[in-house]
Amino acid sequence: MRQFPSLAMEVEGVDKIRQDFPILQRQINQKPLVYLDNAATSQKPTLVLQVLDDYYRCHNANVHRGVHTLSEEATASYEHARLRIARFINAASYKEVIFTRGTTESINLVAHTWGRTNLRPGDEVLITAMEHHSNIVPWQILQAQLGFTLRHISVTPDGLLDLSELDSLLTERTKLLSLVHVSNVLGTINPVPELVAAARRVGAIVLVDGAQSVPHMPVDVQALDVDFLAFSSHKLCGPTGVGVLYGKRALLEEMPPFLGGGDMIREVKLSGSQWNTLPYKFEAGTPAIAQAIGMGAAVDYLTAIGMDWVHEHEQQLTRYAYERLGQIAGLRMLGPGPEARGGLIAFTLGDIHPHDLSAALDHEGIAIRAGHHCAQPVHDHFGVVASARASFYLYNTPDEIDQLVVGLEKARKLLAF
Ligand SMILES: Cc1ncc(COP(=O)(O)O)c(C=O)c1O
Repeated sequence: MRQFPSLAMEVEGVDKIRQDFPILQRQINQKPLVYLDNAATSQKPTLVLQVLDDYYRCHNANVHRGVHTLSEEATASYEHARLRIARFINAASYKEVIFTRGTTESINLVAHTWGRTNLRPGDEVLITAMEHHSNIVPWQILQAQLGFTLRHISVTPDGLLDLSELDSLLTERTKLLSLVHVSNVLGTINPVPELVAAARRVGAIVLVDGAQSVPHMPVDVQALDVDFLAFSSHKLCGPTGVGVLYGKRALLEEMPPFLGGGDMIREVKLSGSQWNTLPYKFEAGTPAIAQAIGMGAAVDYLTAIGMDWVHEHEQQLTRYAYERLGQIAGLRMLGPGPEARGGLIAFTLGDIHPHDLSAALDHEGIAIRAGHHCAQPVHDHFGVVASARASFYLYNTPDEIDQLVVGLEKARKLLAF
């Protein structure tokens, strides 16, 4: 704390926030839990837990179909959650907010509907070398079937997108630019407005993977002018099993359905069917009702705290962590300096395997992620097979970063050089 005076003002606020998260009271291996694996999934505040409990205890029913009180209550809560999420990202209409199972399914939805209808041999889809597998593999699967070309923007040695070759990569052949907003390995915050402007010049549409941005900073889809935005509830204090695909209405209207079944139809005859209106056209079958309602509560919680505050808090933690980790002998951080990154730092420590590092830290009650974080190409790019990753959220403190540093020093002495 001494070395982090700028946060002193807000410590009381963070202490209060921590009280909202029951799991943070846990002891792991007789030590207080230090949870630094927020990029994988976030913890849940009491508000969200209560909303889930209340839904199942008092309102549980299927949505959009029953004409009885419980079904009407469940439908109202489910649709109210959609409205609040639309407001959270400043969508022009609730019709542009489709509930999916999460970021991965949202991207797959776009690939299988927009992609299958619009991509032909000779067309190009442009991604980046710092994508999560969920924004690489769906395009590779589709490419094998449709025969378009998949290209990527490379990454500079300091972990930024290499825009020097953008003019040759983004051309009138490019139909879609699909990129991550904040890299889950490098932490890089990509210049989405600049890239959207470049895509518009060649007539390409833009999909943004917001899995690591929407939970951590204000994201305004109209200001960014993106065509699609994908994100997950579980990374923003909400339940697992639900997420969102935002899409511009005109595009969604033109796209065929993704999955077929109940709820996504207006009329079914044995001779053929007609589709429901937006957003239901893309929500086949019984949705994750409780989870969507829980996601709405999570968005309320974050809105009450303020996304500007969340972002600023994480920026301060990241600056501090960057400085402290940089003092550890043999520690190599992947990605740019703190000025260009969100609240996560992936690193290697000498030749200690990240799994050993993570296991050693777990003895101290500290949870980090170790592995390739579902982003093998970017690890290849930096010549490492795996990394350790500490990722921060609104409830983390500088003291926890100090504990991480002590834990890493201990692990270094124990495990290697
Ligand atoms: C950048 C990024 N994209 C996509 C995903 C996939 O999210 P989900 O597993 O919730 O679908 C993640 C999850 O770690 C991520 O970090």
